[in-house]
Amino acid sequence: KKVVLAYSGGLDTSVIVRWLQDTYDCEVVTFTADIGQGEEVEPARAKAEALGVKEIYIEDLREEYVRDYVFPMFRANTIYEGEYLLGTSIARPLISRRLIEIANETGADAISHGATGKGNDQVRFELGAYALKPGVKVIAPWREWDLNSREKLMAYCEERNIPVETSKKGKSPYSMDANLLHISYEGINLEDPWAEAEEDMWRWSVSPEQAPDEPTYIELTYKQGDIVAVDGQDMKPHEVLEHLNKVAGANGIGRIDIVENRYVGMKSRGCYETPGGTIMLRAHRAIESITLDREVAHLKDSIMPRYAEVIYNGYWWSPEREALQALIDTTQEYVNGTVRLKLYKGNVDVVGRKSDDSLFDEKIATFEEDEGAYDQKDAEGFIKLNALRLRIAASKGRKL
Ligand code: ARG
Ligand code: SIN
Repeated sequence: KKVVLAYSGGLDTSVIVRWLQDTYDCEVVTFTADIGQGEEVEPARAKAEALGVKEIYIEDLREEYVRDYVFPMFRANTIYEGEYLLGTSIARPLISRRLIEIANETGADAISHGATGKGNDQVRFELGAYALKPGVKVIAPWREWDLNSREKLMAYCEERNIPVETSKKGKSPYSMDANLLHISYEGINLEDPWAEAEEDMWRWSVSPEQAPDEPTYIELTYKQGDIVAVDGQDMKPHEVLEHLNKVAGANGIGRIDIVENRYVGMKSRGCYETPGGTIMLRAHRAIESITLDREVAHLKDSIMPRYAEVIYNGYWWSPEREALQALIDTTQEYVNGTVRLKLYKGNVDVVGRKSDDSLFDEKIATFEEDEGAYDQKDAEGFIKLNALRLRIAASKGRKL
């Protein structure tokens, strides 16, 4: 019997390694990925070895993560409940897929993760796993064991000789999750939705008050809906996001504080920093504003909340997500060009946009003489026919 564990190298998942070995008498394979969480992944090797793990997977998935998950999601201008850029949600399908691929490579019949039984993450990991390997066995220790407090966890470590790094430098008390798209904070004082987040909680951005007094200008170049260059310099997807996170974070951009509806039914309060993503959302809308047909743009907007819900709820690996993605992707053929942005004290302003595929026609839109490109007399009939049903109703005495 063998189980592949999504292993961070932290205390919780280290306890899980030992607990799986003890409880299920099984071989544990660990999988640790760099998806831009900002922590070294290599130390996980020695920790896993010390726990007797023989098959250890450590991978740099940053490029794949942004190229195949983050960018496709941004093509849809995706945002959950009007606020959340899905920074955690979109990283889960990649983890699920690798867990299953590693299970297949190593002959494991089970996967395991460190998500609690109260959250969205368990749902996302497991829906993905079942979709990709229908017979897989899932072990979710947090739903099974009784180590539900710090004290019990510590006692377990002492009992089993699991090394605990006490007073780890810069350790935050929040429940956090980070990857190239965002960092999240939940728990502690945030459990009171009225309590304002403390300034020193935030790690990726300065406060707008502390941001520079001079604006920063930046130009993003798009090809088929994806950013391919920043300020004229070609960059790989993950390099784009790394760069934008720095520039936006330095200008106090991307903080939100929200109460969201979890799929499992509860409301939860979370604070998120998504500096680069906040810029990307604005910029993508701006490039679409000149390159997309009106009806296509509105159609995209109408399916976006559904697409966001599909991702939030954990259905990346589903036929409905693939169908929505196919629609979204075909709309991006002409989404090419450059957007110019001004970043200043927490704000992102679009100040310019240009494209060889622009549908914007100055000759038609101008308030000056348009040389017969648009006949203003045509508008009279256009308005009258559109008003016909309104006039009929009004003439029948219908009240509004
Ligand atoms: N509430 C957010 C979401 O559901 C963030 C979850 C953060 N996850 C974590 N394991 N700390 O996507
Ligand atoms: C967790 O329960 O593991 C974190 C929160 C979430 O998944 O929504």
